[in-house]
Amino acid sequence: MKFKIPLPLQQEHEALHERLRLATQAGGEVGEAARTLAQLMHPHFIKEDQFALPPLGLLAALTRGEWNAEMAEVLTLTDQLEAELPQMLAEHQGIVAALKTLRDAAARTGHSDIVAFAEALTEHARVEEEVMYPAAVLVGQVVRQRMSLRVPAAA
Ligand SMILES: [Fe+2]
Ligand SMILES: [Fe+2]
Repeated sequence: MKFKIPLPLQQEHEALHERLRLATQAGGEVGEAARTLAQLMHPHFIKEDQFALPPLGLLAALTRGEWNAEMAEVLTLTDQLEAELPQMLAEHQGIVAALKTLRDAAARTGHSDIVAFAEALTEHARVEEEVMYPAAVLVGQVVRQRMSLRVPAAA
């Protein structure tokens, strides 16, 4: 079963990616700070696309009480997320520090659009830490619970 990142989250990621790409094209210290940030972001974005955010595609169905056996396949993703969560949170710390450098450089040089981008991406990281990642972990826990309820009792 293919688990799809909910469309608004997917679009938010694409929009942030595009704003980051534009920032890397700026000159001087702003462009340099943006390229440092992009190097940190790239492997992180891949993990989010591969296993951290796709479980959220099951949220709506699970809250409606829907179930099918293929949903259990999401555990591969949520187990990986739980295992890599400390590393991903550490990556956020590095990203937020790089964002601060970018924000300060952009503020000094009058790039108000890049200041706004840096603030939006910092906020995005917080929302992931406090809402998206925990919700994805919860999806795995709910699926595991429903599976155990469906195991036929031993004779
Ligand atoms: Fe993200
Ligand atoms: Fe993230």
